[in-house]
Amino acid sequence: MAFIAVWNYLSSYFVVFALFSLRTVQCQAVEAENVTVLEGGTAQISCRLQNYDGSIVVIQNPRRQTLFFNGTRALRDDRFQMVLFTPLLVRITLSNVSVWDEGGYFCQLYTDDTHHQVATLSVIVPPEVPLVEVKAQPVEGAEVELTCVSTRSKPAAVLRWIRDRLEIPGVVSQQDNGKTVSVSNTIRIPVDRRDDGAVLSCEASHPALGVQRRIRHYRLDVHFPPTVHIEPPPGILTEGDSLTLTCSITGNPLPRSVQWSRVNSTLPERAEIGGSSLIVPRLSRTDNGTYLCQAHNLYGRAADHYTLLVYDPGAVVETHSAVPFAVIGGVLALLVFAVICVLIVTTWCSLRQKGSYLTHEASGLDEHGEVQEAFLNDGDVREGNKEYLL
Ligand SMILES: *[C@@H]1O[C@H](CO)[C@@H](O)[C@H](O)[C@H]1NC(C)=O
Ligand SMILES: *[C@@H]1O[C@H](CO)[C@@H](O)[C@H](O)[C@H]1NC(C)=O
Ligand SMILES: *[C@@H]1O[C@H](CO)[C@@H](O)[C@H](O)[C@H]1NC(C)=O
Ligand SMILES: *[C@@H]1O[C@H](CO)[C@@H](O)[C@H](O)[C@H]1NC(C)=O
Ligand SMILES: *[C@@H]1O[C@H](CO)[C@@H](O)[C@H](O)[C@H]1NC(C)=O
Repeated sequence: MAFIAVWNYLSSYFVVFALFSLRTVQCQAVEAENVTVLEGGTAQISCRLQNYDGSIVVIQNPRRQTLFFNGTRALRDDRFQMVLFTPLLVRITLSNVSVWDEGGYFCQLYTDDTHHQVATLSVIVPPEVPLVEVKAQPVEGAEVELTCVSTRSKPAAVLRWIRDRLEIPGVVSQQDNGKTVSVSNTIRIPVDRRDDGAVLSCEASHPALGVQRRIRHYRLDVHFPPTVHIEPPPGILTEGDSLTLTCSITGNPLPRSVQWSRVNSTLPERAEIGGSSLIVPRLSRTDNGTYLCQAHNLYGRAADHYTLLVYDPGAVVETHSAVPFAVIGGVLALLVFAVICVLIVTTWCSLRQKGSYLTHEASGLDEHGEVQEAFLNDGDVREGNKEYLL
């Protein structure tokens, strides 16, 4: 196609002239520089001329298609532009370079001695951010196989797996895809629930990137069976109290719900279940029992229990107010001591004043009023007895 274009474009004279001249090739009057460019970039291909005598300069691509015939475009590819044509330098540019543009570009000068020079164009393809492929869902207790893939680079990218700034050695393989290479690095690591959410990185380095890297972060999603835990309410519960139990669950995937139940019985009808909480208002002693919280996911199930004891409010005061009780005990002891003292004093007095007093006391024990009257009549012991009776 391109050749046809050239043929159409050029007069047959020039072609015949060119073919004739090629037979006497000498490499002296033209110099070309090798060029390396990133894919998608713009390459400059320059030919230095020496002792240019006005003869025809032909530039050809690696397939020997003529791009420019003495400054005139010959191949219909707008990516090529002639930017300079002086007696010292001919320069063309090629934009949006692809790997298929690689190869030797010919600068030919047709003089009596025809000269040509080749500028080798090399195209570098830096890797994209690599991809991570996971063979199967990581599950606790098993090994996970992670493959980092750089589908396209030139030359081959170097892939490394990094975790916590340490490299994890893997199995590297390369596949040639014509002009570019695909590279992969596969690691196998054992995982458990502590690895869930951990981040691994796959870094691609490449000459075109310098010290920079293209990095793909991969967050481990490790599936594991659930755990459940009931935090027991503090203190003790008495009749009329409200019980709130909250069940904390883990697991991946997180169980959607928890199931509340009561061992060998049914939940009280008043019980309210909200999410992972169980609320039993107005506790009664019939609510005693073992309450279960259960959860499950694909990988297993878990349960925790709480044993409810509903106490009688009266019983609670005895067992749980030790300090006030001690004080009451102390006061009682003092009272008893005082009573004994008074009794001793009274006995001593009555021994001193035998006679009508004892008769009065014996007859007056049942009726305070009478006794008091009797004491009032007896001036000596009035004070002490009054105290006793009060
Ligand atoms: C240009 O590249 C070619 C092929 O890679 C090589 O043979 C030649 O020596 C290079 N020329 C210069 C000037 O670097
Ligand atoms: C080729 O192009 C150059 C620069 O434009 C010009 O000086 C020269 O005369 C041309 N040669 C021929 C044979 O047309
Ligand atoms: C560059 O070339 C590629 C194919 O090689 C093409 O898909 C893309 O559209 C081109 N970009 C421009 C800006 O011409
Ligand atoms: C439930 O009943 C079984 C058999 O009747 C008994 O062995 C078990 O101890 C009971 N559990 C509770 C928590 O009451
Ligand atoms: C509930 O538990 C308390 C504390 O052990 C006990 O005193 C009470 O008798 C129990 N009630 C029933 C119905 O089991």
